[in-house]
Amino acid sequence: PKAKTIKIAEATDYRDKRVRVFGWVNRLRVQGRDMMFVVLRDGTGYLQSILNGRLCHTYDALTLTLESTVALTGVVQKVPEGKDAPGGHELIVDYWEVVGRAPGGDDAVTNRISSDADPSLLYQQRHLVIRGDTASAVLKVRSRVMRAFRDHFDSKGYFEVTPPCMVQTQVEGGSTLFSFNYYGEEAYLTQSSQLYLETCLPSMGAVFTMAESYRAEKSSTRRHLSEYTHCEAEIPFITFEDLLDGIEEMVKDVVARVWAEPAARAMIEQLNPKFSPPTEPFVRMRYADAIKWLNEHGIKREEDGKDFEFGDDIPEAPERRMTDAINKPILLTHFPGPIKAFYMPATKEDPRVTESVDLLMPGVGEIVGGSMRIWDYEDLKAAYEREGLDTAPYYWYLDQRKYGSCPHGGFGLGIERFLAWLTDRFTVKECCLYPRFVGRCQP
Ligand code: 4AD
Ligand code: MG
Repeated sequence: PKAKTIKIAEATDYRDKRVRVFGWVNRLRVQGRDMMFVVLRDGTGYLQSILNGRLCHTYDALTLTLESTVALTGVVQKVPEGKDAPGGHELIVDYWEVVGRAPGGDDAVTNRISSDADPSLLYQQRHLVIRGDTASAVLKVRSRVMRAFRDHFDSKGYFEVTPPCMVQTQVEGGSTLFSFNYYGEEAYLTQSSQLYLETCLPSMGAVFTMAESYRAEKSSTRRHLSEYTHCEAEIPFITFEDLLDGIEEMVKDVVARVWAEPAARAMIEQLNPKFSPPTEPFVRMRYADAIKWLNEHGIKREEDGKDFEFGDDIPEAPERRMTDAINKPILLTHFPGPIKAFYMPATKEDPRVTESVDLLMPGVGEIVGGSMRIWDYEDLKAAYEREGLDTAPYYWYLDQRKYGSCPHGGFGLGIERFLAWLTDRFTVKECCLYPRFVGRCQP
């Protein structure tokens, strides 16, 4: 019978039927003269395929290499009990052809460069590295995670918007702005879509975006990229408590949605065997108590070896030490104004601290930054003055406070940091397709 062309993921529906499958040679094992095992990969899955007898004797068979593309035709069979094969079935090939030959040797196996190889080689060869089982699993989980965020916001009735990436305003401080020549004017790559999301509230209510944000970070760390995917939401008429609850609920719901998909769950379990979805209430801790915690645990400031003081920024390393020691998600709140962004309002009880929050996850540290927003026109103008920012380019942002203002807040979550936590990757550089960081803008 004429064989139907199928994807590997569909193989279960074709047991005992003759099919044709296209793909890449992911693994190759020759057993004697008359038997070859090919694990075929087509992006939808892996299929163990067996070539017998004269099928192994041709020139193509004798010179077959890893990463070559082939078309295999044969019957899908359930594998015998006790024999391991991806998907629980294998293809008994009766006809096959080479589509595109790969050279074999070192080039063909770059997709299996061990993860302790020279990292710069991994990034230089990233286009081949992503063919590997681990890298491709992370990218597939990422796809499911992005969908889960969209489904989460959709289920709450938020609209998705797509703000511009080319802007003339800053959100998170001048020191990490990437600037470029925009028809003779200075412009920047956006650091955050927050200000634009705020302008959508009066017409669309709660909104979210999944867009690229850009930061000219001066050094390369485990969790900083120059370009990252930023999931941001903005919600009108909420309190600070509502904001904290919303962040916690979102993280739990997104994980639950991904976990409910067997294929995604299997990949996460493979990448991060210790992982279980968070169910307990997140720890809620004030900045002032974090400072106390660091001092009680003998963690000192890096610059002078002294105790932390109220007002100090908590850098990446001590933040991670605290989060790892507590080993639970922490909503860290009430940061002092001077170490936070200009748009964050002071609390009523204590003008030294703001209605601000970071969500810290074990293994990574901060994955979310959020706050309520100053919503009074005069207060916001005063905040610009304190920051030394010219308000002219922000006329549209100030207008929001003129034409019907309201208490509102929102947050931003770094998708790569979320994935580093979920899939237990050492660095966010493994959690995006082609990482951008100091010294790398290729491939
Ligand atoms: O804390 P950030 O700077 O907050 C904002 O940009 C707010 N305007 C967001 C908002 O309220 N709408 O960034 C938010 C998150 C961080 O918690 C982190 O997960 C991620 O964005 N992030 C980065 N991820 C990778 N590389 C970088 N250089 C990042 N900078 C921030
Ligand atoms: Mg932050």
